[in-house]
Amino acid sequence: MSDRFFLTTPIYYVNDVPHIGHAYTTVMADALARWHRLLGDDVFFLTGTDEHGLKIARSAEANGITPQEQADRTAARFQETWASLDIVPDRFIRTTDPDHTIAVQAFLQKVYDNGHIYQGSYAGWYCVACEAYYEEADLSPNPDGGPGLDPVHNRPVEWFEEENWFFRLSAFEQPLLDWYERQPAPVNPQGKRNEAIGLIKGGLHDISITRSSLDWGVPVPWDDRQVFYVWYDALINYATAIGYGTDQQRFDEWWPHVHHLIGKDILRFHCVYWPAMLLAAGEEPPAHIDVHGYLLVGGEKMSKTSLNQIFPADLVAEVGVDGFRHHFTHDTPFGPDGDFSYEGIIARYNADLANNLGNLLSRVATVVAKKCDGIGPAPQPDSPLAAVAVEVLADTTAAWTAVQPSAALDATWRLIRETNAALEAAEPWKVEPGPAVDAVLGDALEVLRIVAILASPVLTRASVEIWRRIGLSGSPAEQRLPDAAAWGGYPGGLPVEKGEPLFPRLKAQA
Ligand code: ME8
Ligand code: MG
Repeated sequence: MSDRFFLTTPIYYVNDVPHIGHAYTTVMADALARWHRLLGDDVFFLTGTDEHGLKIARSAEANGITPQEQADRTAARFQETWASLDIVPDRFIRTTDPDHTIAVQAFLQKVYDNGHIYQGSYAGWYCVACEAYYEEADLSPNPDGGPGLDPVHNRPVEWFEEENWFFRLSAFEQPLLDWYERQPAPVNPQGKRNEAIGLIKGGLHDISITRSSLDWGVPVPWDDRQVFYVWYDALINYATAIGYGTDQQRFDEWWPHVHHLIGKDILRFHCVYWPAMLLAAGEEPPAHIDVHGYLLVGGEKMSKTSLNQIFPADLVAEVGVDGFRHHFTHDTPFGPDGDFSYEGIIARYNADLANNLGNLLSRVATVVAKKCDGIGPAPQPDSPLAAVAVEVLADTTAAWTAVQPSAALDATWRLIRETNAALEAAEPWKVEPGPAVDAVLGDALEVLRIVAILASPVLTRASVEIWRRIGLSGSPAEQRLPDAAAWGGYPGGLPVEKGEPLFPRLKAQA
């Protein structure tokens, strides 16, 4: 039986269009989903949009449209953008989907019935951009003299007073700490796990989970004057998508073996609030939360509220879909913050794609045309590259398993580099046609076949083109690892097509 692999991204707010920060998480998730498909896993890859709450209601108002229109327009922009980047989720969930309303109401009714929700009033500093309350001590001074600035967006908070329903989060301090104790590594990397435990040990206050001041949300089933607070609605999307409230059997089959990919801005919600809610509803907390850092532009977090936004289409026009996906999976190791720069994306494209991979393909195709009448020879069973391929498969697999796409690509590229080096040492372009030339070219073709498979989660287009040019039928994504990467799969005797450069070199420019 195949393993189940449930993978999620955050669901993005619909107050503004997708930028490369959203693409960063979502491309990585798509590549990870494709890797697990290569392994033959039963993959369910979920992304979507977070459409309720005050932030969305206000931005709709500013645009002179209804919140539903705002949500429809922006959700469509996210879907188009993902399609343009070859990001193919199994479901694109919207928090306005009817099954999500059912799930939210069923889930929170359960928490209510379990006695963890009570009525109360609250007054405090609220950041609409974060949709979160802050303690005075969390705020930084406002240079203009008004209310303090929130730590994520650096925007002035607002004073809110509400009569509403509270979740008894304080009661879950010890259960959460016990859960962290029981689970060897629910949160990766380790530093982020420690951060989550630190937040819990710092003390948890009960949290207001409904709003009376707003009607753009899911109605509270036991109090029709209120809607649920947007975060408590949004987090439940992960349960909706696998049948919570609508198909309990499906939910039980998939939960809790999930991988949540998130940015560190929403660590508190995923590593503290969400596990607590699940415990309160009588469910296990999520098995894996993988937290990455910020993509920085000019040293600052790129965000909707600042002026340093970059849109995926601008970069795709320069480096193509493969270049885009390769950059964001390879350039920033998963975990720490990483700097995005235009020079960086061009340099990465030229080094890895134009020089290493593109060169290997064009050299091999050129020499096969000249010395082998365009028919690719078979690899040697005892090639020195066979041993490298075994190590590369093991290292690539280990890195994807550890949710380290950048290390996985490093491992895969080692095979390309060593094959280029072998070609440079043998110089088949200088040798008379015959067994020596056939041997080195057959090995290089076999490497191209293996690399087309291993890189297919990232290079969705080039991998297919390489496969076709070396004369293979079907597609690399249809192959199943580890068997498909075993040395000797390239049969030889196939027509090899020269074609245009796969990745023409780009000039760095301003
Ligand atoms: O927080 N660097 O949505 P959001 C890295 N709706 N990642 C970035 C990034 C950057 N500069 N900018 C955005 C929300 N991201 C909620 C989530 S989930 C139940 C609800 C990515 O539109 C990163 O994944 O503000 C981050 O966590 C997410 O976008 C925040 O998206
Ligand atoms: Mg945000």
